[in-house]
Amino acid sequence: MKQPVLQYLKLFLLLGLGGVTAMHVPKQDVSASLGALSLDGHFRFHDLSSAAQDFGNLSCFLPVAVLHPGSVADIATTVRHVFMMGEHSTLTVAARGHGHSLYGQSQAAGGIVIRMESLQSDSMKVHPGVSPYVDASGGELWINVLNETLKYGLAPKSWTDYLHLTIGGTLSNAGVSGQTFRHGPQISNVKELEIVTGRGDVVTCSPQQNSNLFHAALGGLGQFGIITRARIALEPAPQMVRWIRVLYLDFASFTEDQEMLISAQKTFDYIEGFVIINKTGILNNWRSSFNPQDAVRASQFKTDKKVLFCLEMTKNFNPEEADIMEQEVNALLSQLRYTPASLFHTDVTYMEFLDRVHSSELKLRAKGLWEVPHPWLNLIIPRSTIHKFATEVFEKILKDNNNGPILIYPVNKSRWDNRTSVVIPDGEVFYLVGFLPSALGPYSIEHTLNLNRKIIEFCNEASIGVKQYLPNYTTEAEWKAHYGARWDTFQQRKNTYDPLAILAPGQGIFQKASASLPLSL
Ligand SMILES: Cc1cc2nc3c(=O)[nH]c(=O)nc-3n(C[C@H](O)[C@H](O)[C@H](O)COP(=O)(O)OP(=O)(O)OC[C@H]3O[C@@H](n4cnc5c(N)ncnc54)[C@H](O)[C@@H]3O)c2cc1C
Ligand SMILES: *[C@@H]1O[C@H](CO)[C@@H](O)[C@H](O)[C@H]1NC(C)=O
Ligand SMILES: *[C@@H]1O[C@H](CO)[C@@H](O)[C@H](O)[C@H]1NC(C)=O
Ligand SMILES: *[C@@H]1O[C@H](CO)[C@@H](O)[C@H](O)[C@H]1NC(C)=O
Ligand SMILES: *[C@@H]1O[C@H](CO)[C@@H](O)[C@H](O)[C@H]1NC(C)=O
Ligand SMILES: *[C@@H]1O[C@H](CO)[C@@H](O)[C@H](O)[C@H]1NC(C)=O
Ligand SMILES: *[C@@H]1O[C@H](CO)[C@@H](O)[C@H](O)[C@H]1NC(C)=O
Repeated sequence: MKQPVLQYLKLFLLLGLGGVTAMHVPKQDVSASLGALSLDGHFRFHDLSSAAQDFGNLSCFLPVAVLHPGSVADIATTVRHVFMMGEHSTLTVAARGHGHSLYGQSQAAGGIVIRMESLQSDSMKVHPGVSPYVDASGGELWINVLNETLKYGLAPKSWTDYLHLTIGGTLSNAGVSGQTFRHGPQISNVKELEIVTGRGDVVTCSPQQNSNLFHAALGGLGQFGIITRARIALEPAPQMVRWIRVLYLDFASFTEDQEMLISAQKTFDYIEGFVIINKTGILNNWRSSFNPQDAVRASQFKTDKKVLFCLEMTKNFNPEEADIMEQEVNALLSQLRYTPASLFHTDVTYMEFLDRVHSSELKLRAKGLWEVPHPWLNLIIPRSTIHKFATEVFEKILKDNNNGPILIYPVNKSRWDNRTSVVIPDGEVFYLVGFLPSALGPYSIEHTLNLNRKIIEFCNEASIGVKQYLPNYTTEAEWKAHYGARWDTFQQRKNTYDPLAILAPGQGIFQKASASLPLSL
């Protein structure tokens, strides 16, 4: 029914009558109307290119303005202003955490980017006690949360592999790592949120209060509101970590051991794993800075297998309990079927362990290898199809063609809350699989995206039952398929909290009504 109207409007624009991209509101008017808002912080209208970049380094969409908020009220004022402009304005609003999205999810083409890190402040407050927690700004980096809570001997329970990400950014996705099997993703460890909705309302929510918004925002891809504050559960922090890596030559024993470990009562504190495809150089790297249990056997270790699997685990301890830790670790290791010569370990502080990827970042930055394109692909695969997936993808599609880590580890669904917006596959146990390549030299962007495409196509054809994590879809049909039976709820929540589709346009799920015209012309 809307088709004739759209055609008419397109014609109107083609004839030059629409003029500028922001339809009825020329750019100068947008700056003027935003500039007139009364704020604690300020807008910038020039030199905005940094807000049009992200870690993926593949997408670049310039906004018209960047808000450096001085307060939560600034964010509410701005969103409400855009809301009041109504559905005829094309203006959208993207919260930008640390900009570590992969395909432009924290960008806003022709819209407003809110630099959430400007809100990081002295406001972080640790509450020790029986159920300790920390209140922190949505733009706070997890590394700062760790640094602050450690001063009280406390720390959050569930992490991501890399800590230079913001609270609001990871809670909008899920936040997964080697602690997820035990504590659930980060979104399972939040007690309360403060959110600015797409109407510009500031709402405090929790499982008890405004619970629909609370659950919507967790894993909600920024669609329902901007997280301005989060209350995160804490636990006593260990001082040290025994960090262990062992190798497997076959996938079946690797995954059986992983699954045994995540379901055991007494087990490790962190369990991940990665795939090693033996092309030149890689094998020298997997254990750098680790010590062999048996140096002689380790030096003789050799295999002609092209694909190996590394199980990575940690056990937390305090120095005075090192003996007990050793006993517990040995008891656990004795149940595993790794190649004995491949047992390596190292002891590091809790901070060193959790911030480990940042150490790699500094090395890569020094070589100019950090700010490069990252066509990453993150998948969630049911346990029932993981073997089929592994055979095809690791042995055939990738062969020696990957250029970055491939993570793979199982988690148990019981630690995930199905009232949140995050999508997980059917079945009790599922695997998180991350292909994290850098597009460099012979590994071009095209080459890597093509491999990703092949992996996704295989998953669809072989009915793997895959879901994307950090999802990247372009059509509504794909989003509907992603959300499946939960699409209706997702859409209803959108209508309730962001009816004009102002927020997080870079996810490409909903389009602001009038914004679709210039894009499709
Ligand atoms: C090196 C590296 C390692 C990673 N490791 C892991 C990992 O181990 N586990 C894992 O789960 N993820 C991991 N990630 C992915 C990470 O969770 C995402 O990149 C996520 O987007 C967080 O990044 P950010 O804080 O920079 O958010 P951004 O990229 O800035 O934003 C992400 C999305 O959330 C929205 N958003 C941002 N802030 C808010 C807010 N306050 N309220 C509402 N919406 C908001 C944005 O609009 C955007 O749509 C990794 C990423 C990198 C680059
Ligand atoms: C990729 O990163 C480089 C270096 O920071 C930058 O000059 C370039 O504009 C980026 N490209 C995209 C598409 O973001
Ligand atoms: C932790 O905070 C202190 C200040 O309290 C700062 O000096 C230090 O650099 C921080 N460490 C990290 C790893 O951010
Ligand atoms: C998953 O967790 C539930 C609840 O703790 C438990 O009953 C179940 O045995 C676990 N499943 C597996 C396969 O580990
Ligand atoms: C890696 O593969 C090469 C060639 O197949 C082989 O010679 C080498 O031993 C392998 N490395 C290890 C540690 O098995
Ligand atoms: C969530 O899980 C519970 C318990 O398994 C189930 O009763 C409920 O129907 C599920 N809700 C949704 C929305 O899937
Ligand atoms: C992600 O989306 C972009 C388009 O926005 C597309 O070019 C790219 O191929 C997608 N990546 C994957 C892995 O699907």
